[in-house]
Amino acid sequence: MKNEKILVVGGAGYIGSHMVKDLLDTDYGVITLDDLSTGHRDLVPGGEFIEGGLGDRVLLDNLFSTHPISAVMHFAAFSLVGESVENPLKYYRNNMAATAELLDSMIRHNVKRFIFSSTAAVYGEPVEIPITEDHPCDPTNPYGASKIAVERMLKDCDSAYGLKYISLRYFNASGADESGNIGERHHNETHLIPLILEVATGRRENIKIFGTNYPTPDGTCIRDYIHVSDLTRAHLLALETLMSGGDSSVYNLGNNRGYSVREVIELARKVTGKPIPAIEADKRPGDPAVLIASSDKIKEALGWKPKYEDLETIIKTAWVWHWKEANI
Ligand code: UFG
Repeated sequence: MKNEKILVVGGAGYIGSHMVKDLLDTDYGVITLDDLSTGHRDLVPGGEFIEGGLGDRVLLDNLFSTHPISAVMHFAAFSLVGESVENPLKYYRNNMAATAELLDSMIRHNVKRFIFSSTAAVYGEPVEIPITEDHPCDPTNPYGASKIAVERMLKDCDSAYGLKYISLRYFNASGADESGNIGERHHNETHLIPLILEVATGRRENIKIFGTNYPTPDGTCIRDYIHVSDLTRAHLLALETLMSGGDSSVYNLGNNRGYSVREVIELARKVTGKPIPAIEADKRPGDPAVLIASSDKIKEALGWKPKYEDLETIIKTAWVWHWKEANI
């Protein structure tokens, strides 16, 4: 498949770098495009690397006219809910407007296969659990709104230009590649599992539990954690589907199982053998009490089967990575 070149936009980020690895392992040719605003050059496991932004029309036109690209995978989004509320235009500019430039360049160069990283944030406050793909989309923050806007854009591009796309709505991406060579590295970490593991490595004193009176069994928020390599495997299946003439579609990606914040902390204590002090804190604005995915649609349609269904194993893979990062 080396003659099939896949453009991975945002391939120096957490999920993108795992995708590049999986594509290379599956023998695809890979070009990574990343502006390194949040990504890291040393996390890109191989293939060709181009530094630049997805809204750079000249760069994109040059890239598509000089490389035979079979499909584009797009991971280059800002993804912090809180930041999106404070600075919505940053999100609309990058996640929406720059993506429109990317699609425009693709269409002009007749590249018509696209795999999009969407999010559970498109649903907003759930009216039904588990959440299926036909749950109403009513995002409660600009991040989710920017993602659903792109999904709409993709639908319109399919009707108008025959663009075929698969949009994957991730729940809580977590864990790290089993090699321990790539993993989650954010300058301003906000996600629960990496923050807990920073406490375990001694980089942080304690973990704050945001809200303890949610309507859940132990009062803390429940989330559906999915291993990053199960996400990338779903992308490979989506890619194969589009390569063999499959139609556009939208799928959830989660494990159909929720864990509370307290349960996550407890499992991390078990995995790391560290005490991990936790303190109770105020709710974080905009956090829904429970988010659990139904991923039946992608299981049935594409035969996706997660390898890491239990959170303890997911945390173990993340721990190997964080321990290594802290001790390098
Ligand atoms: N949490 C804490 N303490 C922390 C950090 C997080 O208690 O220090 C809690 C949060 O309140 C939440 C849970 O841990 O209840 C998970 O929080 P994360 O920040 O790890 O993840 P989110 O569920 O907020 O966000 C994820 C993705 C987003 C996506 C969202 C969908 O990271 O990109 O799910 O709602 F938009």
